[in-house]
Amino acid sequence: MNFIADKLLLFGATGDLAQRMLLPSLCALHADGLVHQDLVIIGTARSELDDAGYRAFAAEALARFLPEDRKAAVPAFLDRLRYQTLDASSSDGFGVLAEKVGPITDGLAIFLSTAPSLFETTIAGLHQAGLAGDKCRIGLEKPLGSDLATSRLINDAVASVFPESRTFRIDHYLGKETVQNLLALRFANVLFEPLWNSTHINHVQITVAETVGLEGRVGFYDQAGALRDMVQNHMLQLLALVAMEPPAKFNATAVRDEKVKVLRSLRPLGSGDSVTGQYRAGAIDGVAVPGYDQELGHPSDTETFVAIKAHIDNWRWKGVPFFLRTGKRLPERTTEIIIQFNPVPHSIFAAEGAKTSPNRLIIGIQPDENIGLTVMAKVPGLDRGGIRLREVPLDINMPNAFAAAVKRIAYERLLLDLIEGDQTLFVRRDEVEAQWDWVDAIRAGWAEHGLTPKPYTAGSWGPSAAVALAERHGVSWHD
Ligand code: BG6
Repeated sequence: MNFIADKLLLFGATGDLAQRMLLPSLCALHADGLVHQDLVIIGTARSELDDAGYRAFAAEALARFLPEDRKAAVPAFLDRLRYQTLDASSSDGFGVLAEKVGPITDGLAIFLSTAPSLFETTIAGLHQAGLAGDKCRIGLEKPLGSDLATSRLINDAVASVFPESRTFRIDHYLGKETVQNLLALRFANVLFEPLWNSTHINHVQITVAETVGLEGRVGFYDQAGALRDMVQNHMLQLLALVAMEPPAKFNATAVRDEKVKVLRSLRPLGSGDSVTGQYRAGAIDGVAVPGYDQELGHPSDTETFVAIKAHIDNWRWKGVPFFLRTGKRLPERTTEIIIQFNPVPHSIFAAEGAKTSPNRLIIGIQPDENIGLTVMAKVPGLDRGGIRLREVPLDINMPNAFAAAVKRIAYERLLLDLIEGDQTLFVRRDEVEAQWDWVDAIRAGWAEHGLTPKPYTAGSWGPSAAVALAERHGVSWHD
């Protein structure tokens, strides 16, 4: 049964995510009249606050993180906010929370971003307090476990109370506009699909580079590392969208059915197929930054960089490597996907001394959203010395092409879909489990071979072994 929720219960309401992303997103949706006109948002966290205190807290966060042109909407948005203090380490306080939420008539959407240790009591508390019925759905933020076994425990705990149809696992990359645009590019154009296979594609590169370091997330990040923090979720979702078969429809079941087939076809990595690194002191944009161990305060074996050569064992992708690379303290913040096509089978220009480069499709996800295709063109001239060819870009600069469109952050889309009950951009349990399955085997391989991260200087593109990983296949990373 679908419903549009008129109540939103926000766990972790005073946390970093709420301040930076959730409150600004909800306020933007409110400003554009996109939420239920009676939507009430109930925040809950451990901090001792009342409604007025939470509104003051939210006002401060919005003053910092909401774009200027949306600020006029803040006072009316604050009226939607309520707050209930809750210690989620026991299910006792949930009765009071349920009273605060009040009767659930149209529906309740819950957004849970909570420490893993509070998961079970929270789910049990919601259930006991009547906040898990047919008209309640739950959105779950990562981390949802640290391997397949722990993710199963969490998924089982959730499933004992919320059926899959009311469980919304968040991967905020799926809320990014350009990520969704990948689907439009592939399936709303006739140009690419006939070429989208091993006959025409040489390899794929997916890079998610960040300039930030540990950002004070000492407890979490050192337990996770780049593989679990970025590859297990965001990068594998990008890979699945690039590699999946065309779904018959654009709906949650059809899209997720196709993604999971890709994830299950990932070949277990061989011992030489991955490289890990950890940043040392260096400089980003001319500013000196400390090494990971210095930020952490002690030595650690956690990887802050990982590069992988992956294969998808199915007909379409036979023999096509997918190079994945992500790291902290790299020279720039970029997320991009490169589809490298094969060379032309025979160049009629070779005898004239002209070189042709294979076409390349570049899908820029952030910070700039654009789609570029390199094509070969003739350099103008009378060609007395022989024909000359040059690679030129065909660029679709998304912000220019859609200058009038409001730029929205990922959580606006995801919160609205959660409130309205559209699961297409949320990750299904079988996908998460396939992701963990592959990632756990990589970690087991690292442990078996005693692989520890290689140092790299902050501000560089990771350890040189990552370059060698690609070069062994005649590939250079697109920097
Ligand atoms: C999060 C990771 O999921 O994604 C962070 O935990 C990372 O370590 C962040 O910085 C990157 O997200 P974005 O949207 O800034 O690319």
